[in-house]
Amino acid sequence: MKILAIETSCDETSAAVVEYHRGRFRVFSNVVSSQIDIHKKFGGVVPEVAARKQAELIIPVIEEALRQGKKELEIKNKERGAKKGAVIHNSKFIIPHLDALAVTVGPGLMIALSVGVETARTLAAVWKKPIIAVNHLEGHLYSALLSKQNNFQFPISNFQTNSKSQIRNTKYLIHFPAIALIASGGHTELILVNDYLSYRLLGRTRDDAAGEAYDKVAKLLGLGYPGGPVIDRLAQRGDPAAFNFPRGMIGSNDYDFSFAGLKTAVLYKLQEINKTKKQKNKDLTTNNCKLTTNICASFQAAVADVLVAKTIHAAQRYNAKTILLGGGVAANSQLRRQLQASVASLIPNSKFLIPDLTYTTDNAAMIAAAAAFRAERKDFTPWQKLKADPNLTL
Ligand code: KG4
Ligand code: ZN
Repeated sequence: MKILAIETSCDETSAAVVEYHRGRFRVFSNVVSSQIDIHKKFGGVVPEVAARKQAELIIPVIEEALRQGKKELEIKNKERGAKKGAVIHNSKFIIPHLDALAVTVGPGLMIALSVGVETARTLAAVWKKPIIAVNHLEGHLYSALLSKQNNFQFPISNFQTNSKSQIRNTKYLIHFPAIALIASGGHTELILVNDYLSYRLLGRTRDDAAGEAYDKVAKLLGLGYPGGPVIDRLAQRGDPAAFNFPRGMIGSNDYDFSFAGLKTAVLYKLQEINKTKKQKNKDLTTNNCKLTTNICASFQAAVADVLVAKTIHAAQRYNAKTILLGGGVAANSQLRRQLQASVASLIPNSKFLIPDLTYTTDNAAMIAAAAAFRAERKDFTPWQKLKADPNLTL
């Protein structure tokens, strides 16, 4: 089965061609066109601008994904010794090979989601292909399977490990129950996964998402948008114990999060430092670099401590056999390291699956991964019924 997937829920326009063949999943292409440079000017995502850009980019991005996908398919066909269809002369000729379209239907910005959904509806109607509607968070959840260590290949269900075409290495199968931590710019959620496509929300942020906290703190520090990558980089040169920022709700007896207090604590600390410097008539730029790296490191430590503590707590409570990490914040070097180390020391019998960095922030390959699981269960939506839902939950 070959799928063309589309993702336009926020400020990335992405299309991917993937194949699910004899129990293996392969990414043939994953084109991501980011609007970061545009939104940098405004210090964040402006929905109107995001949607207009999505509309401009969607067709070129899909065409590029089809072109790259075609190349990969040719290589695979040759490897398989296929006589017919080994050479596909034009990107358009990959279209008959596609079995389905997949698209993010929510959650996200309504006007951005609509671009992907309407494009998928049109293509499905013209090409006469079925559509798989995908929840964006489900995409982040299965992105944990997109790992170079496994050459981006994984079986689509545990059942297949018993079949003839099985992948013998079961290392990258999800063993259930699993706990998924999804941390991005719009979401911070802990999910209990009882089986493929069977989820229960355990907790979520009550105010800012983890990625949002990164973006807001970066703004306070004058580091631009998005905040995650730059804070991550600067934190590596700072002292995480320089400031004792609050670990919001770390001891609460639930799986909810709160990051607004942490952002305010950083703001107050900056105001306090500036006030003291002014009183002492000190140059405000002196030691600024050290101060910034220390704030970044201390802030990052607070975020990681909370995310890791709550995830481990949930994993212990529900006897999780697998821990999955996904979302833009899953790119964070400290979170990846700290969660891996905590799983190894505190719940050593559990597996820990994380996506390669390419698949942490929004991309269509992860939407295709989730779609492959849905396609296995023949969960298709006719184009006439497909709708975007900005508030969709898992
Ligand atoms: O998943 P994503 O691309 O979009 C949403 O679905 O929201 O996540 C984007 C978020 C941004 O807030 C960005 O600052 C954050 O992920 N992010 C990071 C890192 N890279 C991106 N946060 C922490 N550390 C990073 N290395
Ligand atoms: Zn996302």
